This record gives sequence, structure tokens and C-alpha cells, in this order.
Amino acid sequence: MAAPGAVPAAATKRAAVLRSQIAEHDRRYYEEDAPTISDAEYDALFRELRSLESDFPSLLTPDSPTQRVGGARAAAFAPVVHRVPMLSLRTETQTTAAGAVAFDARMRRELKLAPDAPPIIYLAELKFDGLAVSLRYEEGTLTVAATRGDGETGEDVTANLRTVAEIPASLRGRAPPLLEVRGEVYMTRADFTRLNERQRAAGGKLFVNPRNTAAGAVRQLDPTVTAKRQLRFFAYGIGESDGWATPPTQDALLTALAAFGLPVNGDRRLAHGGEELAAYYEDVKARRADLPFEIDGVVYKVDSLEVQSELGFRSREPRWAVAHKFPPEEMSTRLLSIDVQVGRTGAVTPVARLEPVFVGGTTVTNVTLHNDEEIRRRDLRIGDTVIVRRAGDVIPQVVRVVQEKRPPDAREFVMPAHCPECGSAIARLPGEVIARCTGGLVCPAQRRQALLHFASRRALDIEGLGDKLVEQLVDGGIVRTPADLYRLGLGKLAALERMAEKSAANVVAAIEKSRSTTLARFIFGLGIRHVGEATARDLARHFGTLDALMDADEARLLEVDDVGPVLAASIAGFFAEPHNREGIEQLRAAGVHWPEGARRAPERGALAGLNFVLTGTLPSYSRDDAKALIEGAGGKVIGSVSRKTDYVVAGAEAGSKLAKATQLGVAILDEAGLEQLIARRGTATGDERGHREQA
Ligand code: IVH
Repeated sequence: MAAPGAVPAAATKRAAVLRSQIAEHDRRYYEEDAPTISDAEYDALFRELRSLESDFPSLLTPDSPTQRVGGARAAAFAPVVHRVPMLSLRTETQTTAAGAVAFDARMRRELKLAPDAPPIIYLAELKFDGLAVSLRYEEGTLTVAATRGDGETGEDVTANLRTVAEIPASLRGRAPPLLEVRGEVYMTRADFTRLNERQRAAGGKLFVNPRNTAAGAVRQLDPTVTAKRQLRFFAYGIGESDGWATPPTQDALLTALAAFGLPVNGDRRLAHGGEELAAYYEDVKARRADLPFEIDGVVYKVDSLEVQSELGFRSREPRWAVAHKFPPEEMSTRLLSIDVQVGRTGAVTPVARLEPVFVGGTTVTNVTLHNDEEIRRRDLRIGDTVIVRRAGDVIPQVVRVVQEKRPPDAREFVMPAHCPECGSAIARLPGEVIARCTGGLVCPAQRRQALLHFASRRALDIEGLGDKLVEQLVDGGIVRTPADLYRLGLGKLAALERMAEKSAANVVAAIEKSRSTTLARFIFGLGIRHVGEATARDLARHFGTLDALMDADEARLLEVDDVGPVLAASIAGFFAEPHNREGIEQLRAAGVHWPEGARRAPERGALAGLNFVLTGTLPSYSRDDAKALIEGAGGKVIGSVSRKTDYVVAGAEAGSKLAKATQLGVAILDEAGLEQLIARRGTATGDERGHREQA
């Protein structure tokens, strides 16, 4: 250790910087409930200061943050002196199960136990991520509720905490003359999400996380605001008490508190020795994301209160307990750049490239940012410091920007005008937030999916052309567009790895067969956004030829039944792209053909020519199944009830559509009625259809 007076200037300076940083972060955390660094980063600053002070003890000042329990008081609340101080827990530095074993070893050393002495019994509890409070019950009645403050003096938040339904105004059973209950005020994830949904709907500011929201709500000046925040409470210990025979163990203490009607979390475990603590750590870590509230670790306490008092305290922390945190779920890092990625449907997604950061147990370097509107809403700029969150198996997210760390040269993201993969225009359809590459069949990123769609059963129906084969063909550069499929010979296919001669021949035959198709299948196979099978049929029927469809402007497209502005823009946009026209010409040149000219005869089937609207829940068909049933019988399912609707099929809890049908005098069927209709018309119209087809 260095002699007093021999403190290097750099260490003195660093300690001062650390103290002022810690003070500033304390202020943001405790007073504003808006921290700008993660807990782990805060802990790192704290550890660095503590280690400097231990290397150079003359640096230690009585007002150093390392000498207090933490926190500051907001002036708006009356001070409450904690007669029994509210202490904090020492944090185990290792965020692996080994930390549990290390704690046990330390306890055994402290207690001078022989290696063969029986294991120490601990109570392992969850470490709730909320705000510590102390509730004073006199003669069983809640008289004072206070925050921890600096551990010695807290804030009087009695009026606010009286609004928390889970905090009993009076204790149940035979309450002692005085009992101070210590515990955590928190908010469930579900209540937090609902609160933010309401905020979003009202155009208000979004809350950052449940912990800050709960802490902020406890410190509201207006208790009616606190009351709206759905706060909850878990008791985990006691402070001052009088006239109470304190139970002998932590476990029995919690049971006794529960008997007084206080909420006590049941997720706790008696552990014999370090290995069992480690098992609890791993177990809780695995279940962490499924818990209804947030925790940041577990807490181990020596179970026997007698042994606890034997161990006592070291500075301001009990020796008999430790907080064992999980690897942090949130970390800050730098947003280096934003690239775009083209998805299989052409969706262009901005992706954040981050300075690699270890969070939630893995290293994160790329995070999807969904769309550019989201980037603007969150005010993300390239060069920013951002908080990245990875909880459980959930994909990592950028949760917010640390505005204070924004460098002067931070740049806004601009969505590129052209696709980085194929150079086609990137466009956003009216009413959509997702930008899309208009390259369609030509864009390599979309090619694979487009080919699979083109070959699918309801499109060109090429049997045997599945995921694996398409991947091989595209990655090998053998097939780029659907037209290339028709130039594939047996030789090229059979030469592929894992491709037997026989299956190659089958695929070639299936491709051959698909040359002769229908206009509706062909249109569907193009994979135009929003154009499903039914729309493709409508378009084929309406325009009769592919050229007529390709030449139609949006106004002409809007004349088609059930084609609205979004669909019309999508179709016109697709055919406006020269690449797509080229792809179509190549297919025609490759011999893909269909009967053209005449408008097609009405669809076949028992329900041909009839329009249906579905509403409510049917007893034995899902919405999709009912739709498939009707369409399979040649009928059409439309979205809204009008005079053109022939039948409304109504199930349980049918709403406004049923009312509209009644008003317009549209026939209403239940499930059985629909089945009967299909059966009846199926036989009655069979002959008639036969004639029509021959004609
Ligand atoms: S016991 C003397 N048990 O963690 C021991 N604390 O620094 C007092 N916390 O601010 C704490 N869950 O608010 C204890 N099961 C638990 C806890 C818990 C969360 C908080 C507490 C305190 C911090 C420890």
C-alpha cells in the first residue's frame, strides 16, 4: 500500500471525477428517476472509486459516496428518521453461479467453521427491482411510510403509499405495538405495458421501465397520480419493532409477515450450503423473463437470526447477506452505423451496427430498428450512445438514446432511395410504415422467396421445388429468375449435390407441366404485394389478358371489385418497374402460357357467384377454415356488408356486421345453414353447371 502523501496526482484527479460522476448519476437515478447509465456501469464507477480509496486511504473523505448507503432526499417530502437504518446489500461481483459458492465460503470463514462442519442454512430470495420503503405499523395501524433516502433519513410518502391497494392500512391478527416492515414497491410488467399503451394512445411521454415508473410514482406530489400507477409491494424484512417475539429465522419471519396480511413473495428457497444457492441462482435466471415483475438478481440471507447477529455488519452492509445479480439485461454502447437489410418480401429494414456489447449473456453487434419512422420517433442518430436490452430469449432491442452523450457530429439516418442489393427504387406505399424494394423478382434478397412463391401449389404448382433445392439453385447462381427454371435441363439438376437422377427427372417434368397454366395462377405467382389468390382471380376475370392488366393505371384498377387504393398502387407500382416487365417477358418467351382473350366463365362450385361476409365465432370452423370452405365451393368472402352481399354467416358474439345485414335485409346463416346451402346447391346446380361449361 502507498504511504500517505504519496498519492499520485492522477489518482486524486480520477477520484474527484468519479465522485462527481457518481453524484450526478445518483441525482438522475434517485431524484429524476431517469438514469443515463446502466446499473452495471454505475457499479463499475463505484468499484473503481472504492479500489482507489483502498489503494490510497488518504483519498477517502467522509462525504465520499462509498461511505453512505446511497441516495439523496428530495426536498418536497418531510424527512423521516429511520431509527433502525435502512441498509443496502453488498453485491457479489461475479455474475455466474460461482458467486454463490464464494459467498458461502466467505460465511464459513467468518464463522470459523471447520471444513467438515454441517452446511450453513440460507434463505434465497428474489431481488425485486423497485424502490425500498419502510412501513411503520403502530398498534397494527399504518402510521408512516417512508422511502430509504440515504439510509438514515428518508422521505415521508405516507399519503402516496396509502393509495397502494396491496399495502394493508392495518395488520391482520394480533399485531405488536410497533412493527416496521421493510420491503419493495414495484410494478408488474403487464401494468407497465398497459400504462405505456395508454400513454401512447393519449400522445403522452412513454415511461422507460417499471422500476423508474414505480419509484417516480412513490415520489409524486399528488397521491391521486400515485393511485393511478397500479403499484404493488413485497415485504422482505423488518426495521424497528417493539413487543414482538421476533421469529428465529428469516423464513419464519416472512411467514409471520404474511400472516399479518402483508404480501410476501413465495418464490424463496431454503438452501443448505453454497451449491444449493448456486442452483437457485441458475433456476431463477432461467425463469427470469417469465416472472410477472422485474428482478435484477437474487438475495442470499443466512436464515438464522441468531447467526445473523453473530456475523453483524461491516461498514453499512450486513455481513450475513449478499445481492447476487444476473448479467445485466441492459447495457449502453455506441451506434456505429445504420445499414439496411432487404427481407424476403422486399421489406427494407434498417439495422443498427453496434460496438459489440455483452448483454443478457451474449455479445450483440446488430439490432433491427424496424423502420425509419421508429428511428425518428426514438430520435436515434448515428454516433449516439444507446441502451441495448436483451431479456431472456427475446431478440435484442435498442431501448433508448442517452441524449447527454450525443456527440456534435451525430448524423440522422436517411433511408436510401435505391435497394443496395439490386438498385431498384425503394418505395413506401401510402399508409405503410415499411419501405420496400420494388425490385421484385430481380432483387437477389427476394429471389429465393419469390421463386418458392412462384412454384407454390396455388401458383405455378411445380412439385418438388422446395426450400432446399431453391437454396441450392440460387446460391449456386444457377437460377436467378423464375424464367431460368424453364431453361434448367436434367443435366444441371442432376449435377447438384444430394440430387438423385430420378428426383431430378421428376422436377424437370413438373417444371415442364407448369408451362401451361391459367392467367389467375400466373398473376398470383408474380408475388405482387397484397395480391392473394382471390384478388389474382378477380384481376384475371376483369382484365381477361395479362397485357390489359399490365397497362391498367390505378384508376382502371380501382374499377375491379374489392380493389382499393392500397392494392391498386401496389399493382401499378409492380408493373411500372421495368425489371418486373422483363421477368414476365422472359417467362412468356420461355413458353409459359395460358388461355387468354375471353373473360373467364364464372367460377365453378356450389357457391359460385355468391358473396359472403363472416362475422363472430363459428362453433367448429376458425375464420380461415370457414373462408376456405366457402372459397372451395366457389363463393367469395368479402370484408364488409353491402347490398352486394348475398349471405352473412354469423357466429357467437357477432357485432356490427350482423346489425348491418339485418338493416339491409341480407340473408343470415349460421354454421349449419352454410353447410346446408353448400349441400343443397351442390346437387341442384350440378347439371346446370355442366351445360354451361360445354357451351
Ligand atoms: S434485504 C439489510 N431482500 O435491494 C438488508 N433487499 O441494496 C436489506 N431488495 O435497496 C435488504 N429485493 O430495496 C432485501 N429480497 C430482498 C430484496 C432487497 C430487493 C433491494 C432493497 C435494497 C437493495 C439492496
